[in-house]
Amino acid sequence: MSTNFLLLSTIALCIICAVFAFEPSPLQDFCVADPTSSARVNGQVCKSPGSVGANDFSFSGLHIPGNTSNPNGSRVTAVTVAQLPGLNTLGISMVRIDYAAWGINPPHTHPRATEILTVIEGSLEVGFVTSNPDNRLITKTLQKGDVFVFPIGLVHFQRNVGTKNAVAIAALSSQNPGVITIANAVFGSKPDISSDVLAKAFQLDQSVVRNLQAKF
Ligand SMILES: *[C@@H]1O[C@H](CO)[C@@H](O)[C@H](O)[C@H]1NC(C)=O
Ligand SMILES: *[C@@H]1O[C@H](CO)[C@@H](O)[C@H](O)[C@H]1NC(C)=O
Repeated sequence: MSTNFLLLSTIALCIICAVFAFEPSPLQDFCVADPTSSARVNGQVCKSPGSVGANDFSFSGLHIPGNTSNPNGSRVTAVTVAQLPGLNTLGISMVRIDYAAWGINPPHTHPRATEILTVIEGSLEVGFVTSNPDNRLITKTLQKGDVFVFPIGLVHFQRNVGTKNAVAIAALSSQNPGVITIANAVFGSKPDISSDVLAKAFQLDQSVVRNLQAKF
């Protein structure tokens, strides 16, 4: 009886797993995105397979350094389904990140993807914070060739800890990982979150909050 119960529980769990599985379960060879279609679907409409060619599965330009002349001192060049239509339904994408000396990729999360990053040039301090209540910072300094993984949904960042440019390449487990940059989302929402809400939430004076809101 307990063996049967175990078997049944395992099957039930597997059904639950299948229900929670998302994105990387294509039901055909490919579904190259047709960005011109007006149909609303979860993802993008497929182009007719007959009209699909090699260019739908390729992107050129990740050898080009991104422009890091901005307050962060970093630039993300993304290759998601928006740039590479062949990624539609495949559950994967890629970015190149350039960092000026001491540049940062500020704290952000990807609501739909885990990210695995490798340093191609320079050295980076990287980290992520675990969810409540621990909010533990997991951090490490990476050298060229080192790999680090940022689990899905967790707040993470990188900083170039060198006086030369740094470059990283990262893969993400979604065709459309999404980015929520914490400061921009909280202090730069449109319209603003009431400054008294943020003042209480961050234990700040409202004038400091308004100052931050003006920046973002
Ligand atoms: C990089 O960005 C800055 C600021 O937007 C701009 O002034 C500069 O011309 C850009 N450099 C290149 C090489 O595109
Ligand atoms: C910093 O980088 C983030 C993520 O790339 C971007 O959303 C934000 O606008 C940048 N902030 C500034 C001040 O350039």
